[in-house]
Amino acid sequence: MKLKLAVLFGGNSTEHEISIISAIQAIGYINREKYDVIPVYISKNNDFYVGEHVDKIEEYTHMNDLIKKSTKVIWVKDGNKVNLVRYPQKLFGNNVISSVDIAFPIVHGTNVEDGVLTGFLQTLGLPVVGCDVLSSAVGMNKYVMKTVLKDNGISVLDCKVYTWTDNEEPEKMYDSIEEKFKYPVIVKPINLGSSIGISKASNRDELKEAMELAFEFSKKVLVEPAIVKLKEINCSVLGDYENAEASECEEPINSDEILSFEDKYIGGNGSKGGAKTGGSKGMASLKRKIPADITKEQRDQVRKMAVDAFKCLGCSGVSRIDFMLDEETGNIYLNEINTIPGSLSFYLWEPLGKRYTQLLDDMIDIAVKQDREAHKLVFSFETNVLEGVHLGGGSKGSKM
Ligand SMILES: Nc1ncnc2c1ncn2[C@@H]1O[C@H](COP(=O)(O)OP(=O)(O)O)[C@@H](O)[C@H]1O
Ligand SMILES: [Mg+2]
Repeated sequence: MKLKLAVLFGGNSTEHEISIISAIQAIGYINREKYDVIPVYISKNNDFYVGEHVDKIEEYTHMNDLIKKSTKVIWVKDGNKVNLVRYPQKLFGNNVISSVDIAFPIVHGTNVEDGVLTGFLQTLGLPVVGCDVLSSAVGMNKYVMKTVLKDNGISVLDCKVYTWTDNEEPEKMYDSIEEKFKYPVIVKPINLGSSIGISKASNRDELKEAMELAFEFSKKVLVEPAIVKLKEINCSVLGDYENAEASECEEPINSDEILSFEDKYIGGNGSKGGAKTGGSKGMASLKRKIPADITKEQRDQVRKMAVDAFKCLGCSGVSRIDFMLDEETGNIYLNEINTIPGSLSFYLWEPLGKRYTQLLDDMIDIAVKQDREAHKLVFSFETNVLEGVHLGGGSKGSKM
C-alpha cells in the first residue's frame, strides 16, 4: 500500500505565492511509486482546499475561481486515522475525501513556517516532514536564532532588537542605535523572509525611513552592522540532529544592493547571470553561481558551520543556511536559516549527484524515522493522576 502524503502549501504569510511555486514544483518530483500525493492548498484565510485544480500553477492567477472549483476540507482525527473531510459536509454520500499518513508542509514565512502549521499537524498525530516546532520557531526569529548560535560558538553579527514600545519614542531609539552601531546599519523585521521590509541606512534620515518600514511588518525590528564588501554564500543541510550533511554552496547574485524579493523570485531571467532556469521557477530561478566563487577553505568552513548550526538548532529535513562573507576582513557570519527553503534547495543537491526525487524521499524517510522514535518515548502515563484528587472546595481560598 502506498503511503498517503499530504503536501500543504500557501497559508497566511507574506510568502504565500512563493510557497505555491515551491510546492507545485516539488509535487512534480515526488516518487509516485511510494506515495499517493494529496496536494492541500491553504488559502490566505487558513482554509484548506483539495481537488484536481490545486496543483496547477496556472489556476493561481485567479485564486477566487480556484477556491470555488475546489473542495474545502477539515482535518479529522478518527482513532489512529487522520482524514480530510469535506466541509460543510454533504447530507448524503461520502464526505471523507482521503485519509493522510504523512504531512509535508512546503510553506514559507511567519504564521506557517515558524512551527505553527507543524504543531497543528503533530497534534493530529501525523508524522510531519521537516523541522519540529521548536527548531522552526527558533529558525524564524532572527534574534533568538542568533542568540542560540552565539552560545554555541557559531559566528553571527552582533545585533539589537527594538520593539513597538521603543518606537513610541523614536528619537531616543535612534540615539540608542547610533550609540551601539556605526553607520551603515541593516534594519530588518525580526521574523520575515524574502527581504521584505529590509533596508540599509547610512545616516539618521535613512535610519528613520528604514525603521518605519520594518515596523510596518513586525512588532520587533532587528538592527545590525551592514557588511559593506559583502559576498553571500548559501549552503543547504539535509538530515537531523544526529546525522546531517552539507550540500554544494551557492553564491546568489543580486542586481540590487539588498537581495530583493524581485531578485529572489520574480527576476532571475535565465539569460542573465548563471541562472539555470528562467521564468517563474521560485528560488531555483535566482541568478546564482554554483559552486560559489570561494576558496576551498572557505567552502569547508561554510559547510561545517552549516551542519553545526543545523544540529545545534535541532533541525530536520532540508534547511538552507545563509552566510555573509565580509571581504574586507575575511570573516564569515551565519546570517539566517530557512527551515523550509525556497524550492527546498534541490538545486544545491543536484551538483553532488542527488536528484530532486531522491532528496524528497530522504526528507520523508527522516520524518518516518523520527515518528517511529517519538512513539518509543513516554508522553503520558497510563494511570490517571487526577483520580482521587480533591480540589479542596469547601472554605474559600483553601489550598490543595
Ligand atoms: N548585515 C548585513 N550587511 C549587509 N547586507 C545584509 C546584511 N543583512 C542582510 N543583508 C542583505 O539583505 C538580504 C536579506 O536579509 P536576510 O537577513 O537574509 O533576510 P530575509 O530573511 O528576508 O532573507 C541579504 O540576502 C543581504 O543581501
Ligand atoms: Mg535571506
